[in-house]
Amino acid sequence: MLNTAVKAARRAGSIITRASQDIGALTVRNKKHNDYVSEVDHAAEQAIIEVLLEAYPNHAILGEESGATGNNADYLWIIDPLDGTTNFLHGYPQYCVSIALQHRGVLEQAVIYDPNRNDLYTATKGRGAFLNDRRIRVGSRAKLQECLIGTGLPFRDFTHVDTYLAMFKDMMQKTSGLRRPGSAALDLAYVASGWYDGFWEIGLSKWDIAAGALLVQEAGGLVGDFEGNESWLETGNIVAGNPKIFGQMLQVLGPHLTEALKSKN
Ligand code: IPD
Ligand code: CA
Ligand code: CA
Repeated sequence: MLNTAVKAARRAGSIITRASQDIGALTVRNKKHNDYVSEVDHAAEQAIIEVLLEAYPNHAILGEESGATGNNADYLWIIDPLDGTTNFLHGYPQYCVSIALQHRGVLEQAVIYDPNRNDLYTATKGRGAFLNDRRIRVGSRAKLQECLIGTGLPFRDFTHVDTYLAMFKDMMQKTSGLRRPGSAALDLAYVASGWYDGFWEIGLSKWDIAAGALLVQEAGGLVGDFEGNESWLETGNIVAGNPKIFGQMLQVLGPHLTEALKSKN
C-alpha cells in the first residue's frame, strides 16, 4: 500500500512541477477569503485517486478537493494533492503532496513528496520513518530555548488571531527562532527529520496533518492537541515535537488556551 501511495504522490508531483513552469497560464478560483484553488490542485488529486482506486477499488477517499467517497470502507486514504497552494501560486518553492492511509481509524501509511527538492518522506506504522529511504529521527535537543520551531500563521480564518499572536510572542522569546514556510505537511516532515524540534498550528484540516503526524510518531516524536491529548486530528489544533521539548511547548501554549482550543472528547 505504501508503494501505491508513493506512485500516486510522484505522479501528482510531476503534474505540479510541469504546471509550476507556467503559473500565469493557470485558472485559479477563490474558494473563500484567501483560499485559492487551481486546476493543478484538482488534476493532482484526480491522478492520485486514479492510482489508488486502480489498486484498491473498494477503499474510501477523503480528498481536499473532491471530498469524501466510499464512506463505509475499512481503509480511508486522506489526500492533500498540493499542500502550500498559496506558495505554489506565487512561485515560492515550498509545497508538497501529502497522502495518508487510515485502517479502521488508525493511521498506518504516510507519504509526503516535496517536488522541489525531490524529497520523498515515508512512514509505515511500527516500521519507522524515512527520507529517500534513509531512516529519520526527530531532534534530540532538550531545552526549548535551543530549539528551532515551525508554525503556521492564520491567513484565512482570523477567529483565534489574538490568541495565536499571544502564543507566538511567548514562543518566540523562549526558543532559538520560529519559522513559517507555508506547508503544514512539510512542517511536520521537518519535525520528523529533526530540522525543527517542534511545530504548532491552530485549525488545520485532516489532509494537512494525517501523513505528517505519522511521520513524526514513527520518527520517535510526539503529536497532540494543545493539551497533549488525542483530539488533534479532529480539531486540527496540533503540537508536534521531539519527546524532550513536547511538554515544554505545551507549557508555553497552555496559559493562552481559550475554551475553544482545549481538547475535545
Ligand atoms: C495550507 C498550508 C499552510 C497552513 C494552512 C493550510 P493548503 O494548506 O498547509 O501551511 O497554514 O492552514 O490550509 O490550503 O495550501 O493545502
Ligand atoms: Ca493543505
Ligand atoms: Ca491543498
